Amino acid sequence: MKILVATEKPFAPAAVEGIKKIIVVAGHEFVLLEKYASKQELLEAVADVNAIIIRSDIIDAEVMDAAPNLKIVVRAGAGYDNVDLEAATQRGIVVMNTPGQNANAVAELVLAMLLFNIRSQFNGKAGTELKGKKLGLLGFGHVAQHVGTLANGFGMYVYAYDAFGRRDNIDAAGLYYLPSKEDMFKVCDIVSLHIPLKPDTRGSINGELMAMMPKGGIVVNTARKEVMDEASVLQIMQERPDLKYVTDIMPDNHEEMLKLGAQYFTTPKKMGAQTAEANANAGFAAARQIVEFFNSGCTRFQVNGPKK
Ligand code: 3PG
Repeated sequence: MKILVATEKPFAPAAVEGIKKIIVVAGHEFVLLEKYASKQELLEAVADVNAIIIRSDIIDAEVMDAAPNLKIVVRAGAGYDNVDLEAATQRGIVVMNTPGQNANAVAELVLAMLLFNIRSQFNGKAGTELKGKKLGLLGFGHVAQHVGTLANGFGMYVYAYDAFGRRDNIDAAGLYYLPSKEDMFKVCDIVSLHIPLKPDTRGSINGELMAMMPKGGIVVNTARKEVMDEASVLQIMQERPDLKYVTDIMPDNHEEMLKLGAQYFTTPKKMGAQTAEANANAGFAAARQIVEFFNSGCTRFQVNGPKK
């Protein structure tokens, strides 16, 4: 089988080597498309492949139609909102993710961005400390669980709310359970977003919620920019100069947000999973899942439905 790694934002070189080895040792052909500048390049690269490993790369119906032999797409990472699941299902293409594999890297970035920003972006001015602050984890998947562990180490009070009702996990982790996201914004000094992008989460974090935050409240986003209602978030931050928005996903209203100065921080490009370890973990898992799929038909970690 011909297996393509298509990453506009490349994996670390050692991860690419490891992925290649897993694929070649299993008797498959490895092809690589990195840093592609146009969709056309991707469309041409997929023409004769049977499997694709991606990161945040967009795999829509057009890409699938350009790949008549495509059987499986594995998103090396957690969020798969960049793949048209419906289109894949209609074409009998299996879509998987690699849950948890890059979670520690994203969690460490949450703490790093928080420290940088509460310490006045290291500009010499006095800042504040994490110890004793209340941190809310909105969503309780793999990344949130890692953030909880790290935050406990900093002496924070960690709260969690999970729309899927995973209260048992929250209790087992020794964290405080909150019954709603409104409660979280009222109670917590810092709210860290760990929700997937879905129709019901799109635009769900808004100015109304941020207005409930205690003085000096911070929202940290390592999820997706689309979960924010950018207009109302900008407005509440203009009204409340004590609030901060710290994000790993540059919002569409970046230029407007920049005018808020130190109230706003964004990485220039999504950095959460950008570590050698996370690239290797997620990339190797993706390659192994594809090899296993072609070996035995194993569909563990499939995220789309079977063809109807
Ligand atoms: C994920 O969903 O796994 C993270 O957002 C990382 O995305 P990336 O692989 O595009 O950096």
